[in-house]
Amino acid sequence: MNNGEALLQVMDLSTRFHTAEGTVRAVDRLSLHINRGEVLGVVGESGCGKSVTALSILRLIPIPPGEIHAEEISFARRNLLTLSNQEMRRIRGNSISMIFQEPMTSLNPVFKVGDQIAEAIRLHQGASRRQAWEQSVELLRIVGISSPEIRANAYPHQMSGGMRQRAMIAMAFSCKPDLLIADEPTTALDVTIQAQILELMREMKENTGSAVMFITHNLGIVAENAQRVLVMYAGQAVESAPVKELFNRPLHPYTIGLLNSIPRREKKSRGKRLASIRGIVPSLLDIPAGCPFRERCSESGSDACKLEAPRFLERGAGHWVRCWKYG
Ligand SMILES: Nc1ncnc2c1ncn2[C@@H]1O[C@H](COP(=O)(O)OP(=O)(O)OP(=O)(O)O)[C@@H](O)[C@H]1O
Ligand SMILES: [Mg+2]
Repeated sequence: MNNGEALLQVMDLSTRFHTAEGTVRAVDRLSLHINRGEVLGVVGESGCGKSVTALSILRLIPIPPGEIHAEEISFARRNLLTLSNQEMRRIRGNSISMIFQEPMTSLNPVFKVGDQIAEAIRLHQGASRRQAWEQSVELLRIVGISSPEIRANAYPHQMSGGMRQRAMIAMAFSCKPDLLIADEPTTALDVTIQAQILELMREMKENTGSAVMFITHNLGIVAENAQRVLVMYAGQAVESAPVKELFNRPLHPYTIGLLNSIPRREKKSRGKRLASIRGIVPSLLDIPAGCPFRERCSESGSDACKLEAPRFLERGAGHWVRCWKYG
């Protein structure tokens, strides 16, 4: 899918969960790559497999009930599928960090925030306790927490949501990761705080040169922050393109639907109702034959849509789409 050497290369990743109700196909033969220093936006409706994709790459899916198959998951030329658990732990938090939607899931409630950041620094950089604490305070200052010497002694519940997310960002960037996976990092915050956190992430990214996999529902955030976009639907990649190309020339009917559902501020569309895509996402328990988007698609008509799943094909430089309309 790319010509240069990618930092992260995922080929044909499938992740399933075996549950009492049946097998959930959360991710289905998904391929993606991220180049060094690049921001890849990953978008799609709730339940389409964005988080499971991230967790699969990091090998954080519980097995069982999970089951992962992939042709390739390589990071900086290392095959993540065959690393020992210990080597994988070293990669997580050292070369790949992750920020989650709700920081309480990654911050430990019983330890001081400063200690948690210091611990990450000590573990991955071998700094002394004192050095690590000082670095931790400095990082809290960098992410815009006032009186960081005092705040470092706070427990997570003593901080506001925005402040916790800042602390998470400090922790995630503390090891200058080659790749940051940010899973809806601002969704739980109110809008003004969201903008500040995004700005902070941009700054931290500039300083560290980290590549970012930015998972979000918000296409506006993608437009402003990503160089390339991957659109997911029902566990599959349905379209992928450089960000300008995707916004100017979306190909997949689902992407077109998503773009039409963005509220616009321009005068001419004022008063127009927000478009939404009819229907609902199919259950990942039994994905019908043919194209998974067929039932909701305004353009589906051919027998091919009903009978066979379309393949992911390149339709222009770096522009990939999975739709029968394009052959
Ligand atoms: N441990 C699990 N056991 C069973 N099914 C799971 C498990 N984890 C995830 N799933 C299922 O996998 C599918 C994909 O979930 P995922 O969390 O990746 O969606 P998402 O795109 O991140 O959604 P959201 O935008 O709401 O965060 C969902 O149908 C979900 O119910
Ligand atoms: Mg998610």
